[in-house]
Amino acid sequence: MKKMEEYIRCIPDFPEPGIMFRDVTSVLQDAEGLKLAIDSMIKILDGVDFDVVAGTESRGFIFGVPVAYAMGKAFVPVRKKGKLPCETVSEKYALEYGFAEIEMHKDSIKPGQKVVLIDDLIATGGTIEAAIKLVERLGGEVVKIVCLMELAGLEGRRKLKGYDFEAVVTYEGK
Ligand code: PRP
Ligand code: MG
Repeated sequence: MKKMEEYIRCIPDFPEPGIMFRDVTSVLQDAEGLKLAIDSMIKILDGVDFDVVAGTESRGFIFGVPVAYAMGKAFVPVRKKGKLPCETVSEKYALEYGFAEIEMHKDSIKPGQKVVLIDDLIATGGTIEAAIKLVERLGGEVVKIVCLMELAGLEGRRKLKGYDFEAVVTYEGK
């Protein structure tokens, strides 16, 4: 049986010279790769007591929804700014150049709910850190963070001190 790493295509110098792009499309377009990715995330969540999966737009949706569905939980989208129609809370975070902003509906998490955050990748950790802040502003408790991939060289994990974070695949570089 192939390992998860073997389904992840690595493209050098995309989107900029010096960046090694870890491509999830190669995982998704292979039925066994997709199954292994979702099953691996579900395994990490085995025994975790939680109510809701929150996933960050857009690649966090791809992995978050099947995990929520398979585990009989709800799914809450954390969307890029300007997409959600009702009252929202929003959080800005730093990109390499400039800022981005993500939002959640105010009624999407009830105070006291236990939330699992899911994304495809943690790089600098800015996206996950902003999502944690949103969940907590709504009164939710982040009980676990699961990503398919971690670029350990970018040290995103340092932003998640005190939180329970696990990645299916960890790359030592950037
Ligand atoms: C990518 C990736 C993660 C985030 C990781 O999303 O899917 O969400 O960057 O980077 P960070 O740890 O440095 O914040 P992107 O914003 O490119 O959007 P997408 O999911 O819509 O492709
Ligand atoms: Mg993303």
